[in-house]
Amino acid sequence: MSRKILVTSALPYANGPLHLGHLLESIQTDIWVRFQKMRGHDVAYVCADDAHGTAIMLTAEKLGITPEEQIARVKAEHERDLAGFQIRFDNYYSTHSDECRHYAEEIFRRLDANGHIERKEITQLYDPEKNLFLADRYIKGTCPKCKAEDQYGDNCEVCSATYTPAELINPRSAISGAVPVEKASTHFFFKLEDFEGLLRSWTRSDSLQPQIANKLGEWLDAGLQSWDISRDAPYFGFEIPGAPGKYFYVWLDAPIGYMASCANWCASTGRNFDDYWAPDSKAELYHFIGKDIINFHGLFWPAMLDSAGFRQPTAIYVHGFLTVNGKKMSKSRGTFIKAETYLKHLPPDYLRYYFAAKLSGAVDDIDLNLEDFVKRVNSDLVGKLVNIASRSAKFVLKGNDGVLSGQLHNPALWQQVVDASEGIASHFENRDYGKAIREIMALADATNEYFDAGEPWKLAKTEEGAADAVAIASQCLNCFYVLSSFLAPVLPALAEKVESFLNVSLSWEAPFQPLLGHRIEPFKAMMARVDNDKVQAMVEDSAESIAAAPQGASQASNSGKAKQKSNKDEPQGLTDTIEFPDFAKVDLRVAEIVAADHVEGADKLLQLTLNLGELGQKQVFAGIKSAYAPEQLVGKLTVMVANLAPRKMRFGVSEGMVLAAGPGGKEIWLLSPDSGAQPGMRIQ
Ligand code: MSP
Ligand code: ZN
Repeated sequence: MSRKILVTSALPYANGPLHLGHLLESIQTDIWVRFQKMRGHDVAYVCADDAHGTAIMLTAEKLGITPEEQIARVKAEHERDLAGFQIRFDNYYSTHSDECRHYAEEIFRRLDANGHIERKEITQLYDPEKNLFLADRYIKGTCPKCKAEDQYGDNCEVCSATYTPAELINPRSAISGAVPVEKASTHFFFKLEDFEGLLRSWTRSDSLQPQIANKLGEWLDAGLQSWDISRDAPYFGFEIPGAPGKYFYVWLDAPIGYMASCANWCASTGRNFDDYWAPDSKAELYHFIGKDIINFHGLFWPAMLDSAGFRQPTAIYVHGFLTVNGKKMSKSRGTFIKAETYLKHLPPDYLRYYFAAKLSGAVDDIDLNLEDFVKRVNSDLVGKLVNIASRSAKFVLKGNDGVLSGQLHNPALWQQVVDASEGIASHFENRDYGKAIREIMALADATNEYFDAGEPWKLAKTEEGAADAVAIASQCLNCFYVLSSFLAPVLPALAEKVESFLNVSLSWEAPFQPLLGHRIEPFKAMMARVDNDKVQAMVEDSAESIAAAPQGASQASNSGKAKQKSNKDEPQGLTDTIEFPDFAKVDLRVAEIVAADHVEGADKLLQLTLNLGELGQKQVFAGIKSAYAPEQLVGKLTVMVANLAPRKMRFGVSEGMVLAAGPGGKEIWLLSPDSGAQPGMRIQ
């Protein structure tokens, strides 16, 4: 029976580019959606940009554009990148939309009418220069416990103490530097504690993965508190009806963005919104999210839906975080890879395949190991799967005018492949893509072994063997046909090529029928081996794109963070602390720039020749071209990391790194020691 299914991925913030961590989620969701569609179900996959909040407002201000312009720009980039990875949405929308405003206001009114909203006066720190209330993350000062300077308003990254911003010594606004003052204001709170019963039974239902149910259980045991859902002007968002100057907090309207995108899709396709959202809806509703936002989806959202008279999600599917080469993504290591940068160097199917091979239905983190990635793609996709087609095609094309044999050469092998269908389908259904991939690849191995054992290349040379060679190749192409169908949700680009090569459309609805006496088309290369150099170039490109400032610039990726996303305002912690011995490993030296040259073919790099006194000369490629002309640099003293392992770049070997600060572009400042320092001196 056909199921009606609504699927969402979390809404990316309209405040920056997508990176491979975001793509892990979109790819996981897209595979599931494509799978369900291939099985004949009625599926809608909707998403949107999450367009509100202080961070977006401040970014727009910094760029000198309106928030509307900022979110439009970012949305266009997000849509371009997602399309590049073949994420096939039925609708991609924005929370800054009429539909979202409508449902946010409506839900708020219902919550309020049901007595689930309370108004309370609270006192917060306020930036008197910017006239802005400061979320904890926008306040910096000295830790009250260990006295470390420059710590955020909610916790110390040196000693891990937690405190309120008011306890910080010498607090400053991180936005203007002004000394914050205390100011009172009325806020709206959603009384989450009224929903304990609902949330308890929800955590005991089958809708949640066990780890998630446990986590929610812990929160419930710790006691629920009302949730602050308003922010004071200036804020980029929706004003609360009847409360001038008060806005819905970004996380209030964010999940409502799922409804808004769905409503917008319903209107343009003639569907009925209530079929998906009414309390008696027969449709299934799934939210795919990362583990940092389960509090919003597992507690606040079900409670809001309940109070406002909408249905509950069927399930929430939580995935872990992406790491690259075993570590949190890092700009200085070049492993903070933007979606756009990946696509400049590599085709999307490879990453889709690699993620699929590593994904299970669990909440574990997923590691993209770049060496393993290259091996895996080359050995599985090129060496096993596509190999079946490329080696079989010629026997059918040359030996039988491009027509497959009228009979199966080995019905048992065909049956083995076809019989795997329901097991593989249930792995996809359970998001255990890794298991599905292992079974598919085992069948590809069996098919290749069948080909090898039959030795069609020998048979084809003899008159009596020629028909058998065609039959063996046809058999293998039939297996390839079914295996490609199993993989079509993962590899849409390959699936299209298979469809034109085999003259079929791939589906997974009815039982598979072998292609007998069926004409195929000339074989064209379907997939190239991944070239290690391309991966290397992508890493270099990722490192280059943050200029030469690995210090301090290894900022704010929320990658790898197990912590719940703060229920305050956006930016997350900036730096990890290290112990002194780690720092002592870094050999920082005063360096004299004796030559600076343009690098052929590099937009961002200058080649610097550095004199380190008795340590001799070193050559470094630095991403500072946007800020310095070579002639400005010659003769200057700067600071370099002298014991960085040499790195082979496309343009030559870089033997270290110079230190610079700043956001990039023209705003990069090379560090320089005070006068009197001599080339080669150790900095300590
Ligand atoms: N805007 C909110 C979501 C609102 S949903 C109603 C948000 N945006 S986000 O851009 O920070 O993250 C979007 C999704 O990407 C989240 O599900 C998040 O968990 C996921 N990821 C972001 N970085 C990630 C990794 N490094 N790895 C895996 N997923 C990651 O949160
Ligand atoms: Zn501290």
